[in-house]
Amino acid sequence: MKNIRIQGGRPLDGAVSIQGSKNAALPIMAAAVLHKGETVLHNCPKIADVLFMEKILARLGAKVCWKGSSLRLDCSSLKNTRIPDEYACQMRCSIILLGALLGRFGKGDIAPPGGCVIGKRPVDLHLSMLKALGARIEEEGGVLRAHTEGLCGRAFVFPKQSVGATEHAMISAVLAKGVTHLKNCAREPEIIWLARFLNGMGASVEGAGTDEILIRGVDALHDSAFQTPPDRIVTGTYLCAAAITRGKIIIENPPIAELPAFLGVYGKMGGQYDMVGGKLIADGRKAYGAVSLVETEVFPGFSTDLQSPVMAVLSLAHGKSHIRENIFEDRFRVAESLVHMGAHIRINGQDAYIDGTKELRGCRVRAQELRGGAALILAGLAAKGQTCVENFQLVERGYEHIQEDIRGLGGVAFAEEE
Ligand code: EPZ
Repeated sequence: MKNIRIQGGRPLDGAVSIQGSKNAALPIMAAAVLHKGETVLHNCPKIADVLFMEKILARLGAKVCWKGSSLRLDCSSLKNTRIPDEYACQMRCSIILLGALLGRFGKGDIAPPGGCVIGKRPVDLHLSMLKALGARIEEEGGVLRAHTEGLCGRAFVFPKQSVGATEHAMISAVLAKGVTHLKNCAREPEIIWLARFLNGMGASVEGAGTDEILIRGVDALHDSAFQTPPDRIVTGTYLCAAAITRGKIIIENPPIAELPAFLGVYGKMGGQYDMVGGKLIADGRKAYGAVSLVETEVFPGFSTDLQSPVMAVLSLAHGKSHIRENIFEDRFRVAESLVHMGAHIRINGQDAYIDGTKELRGCRVRAQELRGGAALILAGLAAKGQTCVENFQLVERGYEHIQEDIRGLGGVAFAEEE
């Protein structure tokens, strides 16, 4: 097990560059399977989830190699169409490989990805979309076996907005016959980045970022290279770090347009931010304001992935705050550890009521999932004394070098094996 030890009480100060986006890189890696050739992904974050996806692609027969932060995927000799069970259950987004395998080979098998601590996370929207495009899917001995004589484009309306299912449909439709017209699509920035990547390899995708996306099937794709955008959730996490430590930081490469609702909440907390010469100056020295209601929503609403980091900041606000989680069923687990550190938080179903306290106590706590773990690190940065966050490997799924970044900003953070 890995831990990270944080010494609290130091306002962060300095400049930091944001890693490549986890949630942009993962669907792009899956989409590379469509092409019998080479794809290069620059500025790819070397995080656990990317290394997981890399292992899956290698097991399918892709040749994978890193050159600095550029990931080269050669899928020419990829031939295996069974996603290894041990990965499918650990990384849910591997489900979108199914559509890429169906598009290229007409078949694909995967053990149904299980739920996780933040919610049940079913894949019904993924499967109904694939069936609508002409896939037959049977469950045999706990494995989903999908096959098709050829995917065919058609109109499909998502019953509810889903980031992964929208991405999965886009990937599945690239080599399908005819036109696929998707409605009620998710509008997250990662969907726009995926569309740009797909078009860069020869696909024809229009409308990404709106709730209607049109994909015209093509017969062939070509080699391409793509620059992974900076990670908007890591950016928001670091702005929360500036707020909770009452510090002031400079973000070198901020995806500022991708955080509209978060920046609104940041301002309500008393956080100040300004773009100067393409850099974001985030001033958290007055960020002790409570916020009457923070509601997570699909984009462009407030991102569920920043809910736990904001909960940590509001734990030390002057006054009462209320968070409502509308996306996942069980995304308040971090509250228990924050209370252990001295926070006053009451959970009632999808609502969290936070009564700001004067001080958090450094102590030993345990991360249960990625963004909750990041929130505990933030709390440790402001707590009195030292905090040890166990299961730091869960945070490494999405944060490439958070301990080095904290140290670069004047904080004290050291990872250790136990
Ligand atoms: C993506 O997950 C992100 N992951 C998540 O980030 C993010 O929290 C989520 O979108 C919402 O923004 C990646 O991009 C790899 P959804 P995804 O399908 O695609 C339900 C992080 O911390 N649903 O938009 O799985 C689902 O249960 C991670 O970086 C169905 O009911 O999210 C949830 O309640 C966590 N049936 C809601 O939709 C389905 O078939 C939104 O989920 C699929 C989803």
